[in-house]
Amino acid sequence: MLKTELCGLALKNPLLLSSGVLDLTAPLMKRAYENGAAAVITKGVGLTERTGHPNPTIIGTDNYLMNAVGLSNPSIFKFKDEIKELKKNRIPTIVNIYAENAEKFAKTALKAQEYGADAVELNVSCPNITKDEMVGQIIGKNPSLVEEITRQVKETVKIPVIAKLSPNVDDIAVIARAAEKGGADAVSAINTVSGMLINIEAKRPILANKSGGVSGPAIKPIAINAVYQIYEAVKIPIIGVGGITTGRDAIEMLMAGATAVAIGSAVYYRGLDVFRKIENEMLQWMKENNTRSIKDMIGVAHK
Ligand SMILES: Cc1cc2nc3c(=O)[nH]c(=O)nc-3n(C[C@H](O)[C@H](O)[C@H](O)COP(=O)(O)O)c2cc1C
Repeated sequence: MLKTELCGLALKNPLLLSSGVLDLTAPLMKRAYENGAAAVITKGVGLTERTGHPNPTIIGTDNYLMNAVGLSNPSIFKFKDEIKELKKNRIPTIVNIYAENAEKFAKTALKAQEYGADAVELNVSCPNITKDEMVGQIIGKNPSLVEEITRQVKETVKIPVIAKLSPNVDDIAVIARAAEKGGADAVSAINTVSGMLINIEAKRPILANKSGGVSGPAIKPIAINAVYQIYEAVKIPIIGVGGITTGRDAIEMLMAGATAVAIGSAVYYRGLDVFRKIENEMLQWMKENNTRSIKDMIGVAHK
């Protein structure tokens, strides 16, 4: 009942492990897959190793998580064994990559393809650093940069290219259209929402980086709205992500227009078997509401 397909990838259900959450090693991602995730999206990797921001980098509350991990990663080269291990286990693997410019995105994507990735997801929520412009703006805010990066990656690899969009923009539909124009096979929305917390006794921001990204249940309405707007703006499939914690949330995301749903923070709230739990909750709802397939839910809130 939940079988589906995304960019040519056959999926046992529409639930994916979102990038950055318990996905730095193959055994962890394998556990998510064995607990119901149809595919895994890896931690964002770049061309060079990065240690990330100092602690604290993540804060948890009942309603949201705040993180500022600072793109800590071992580099695509050291990540090779993890990708190979996942593919040895036949786990659909989407490699999330980041870079400072189109050329580096393309280089990283090519390596991911060489190591066996089924698709790449471009995290465009990082600063743009070109040869002559050392201090960059966030790439994901600039439609022409998003288009250029997507195009260069598309011209370099054969595997599907997914652009992961930031909600911290004026109009996310404009950015989705730019990704589609650049040839993206799909878009993911949304990445974390910019935020800050202050310790009132210390009179200082709590995160070492001061600002961070908000995820989890509190951002669900923002994610649903983004997917709804994007669905009206583009023809390519959407991976809906942001605050999805229950089967009802996942169905809501499909109805907003998502073809698949990625789950991140809910792993912290409900455990690595959250995928199985959400799958069962979806099936239960579908039975009670006479709904036979995923197709009967995608985008129906628009009709
Ligand atoms: C600790 C942490 C690390 C993350 N790292 C990445 C990353 O490397 N690349 C990326 O595109 N998104 C990253 N994200 C964003 C998530 O993939 C997701 O878009 C966001 O958390 C919203 O979904 P959620 O509410 O289900 O967590 C990260 C999120 C968290 C909480």
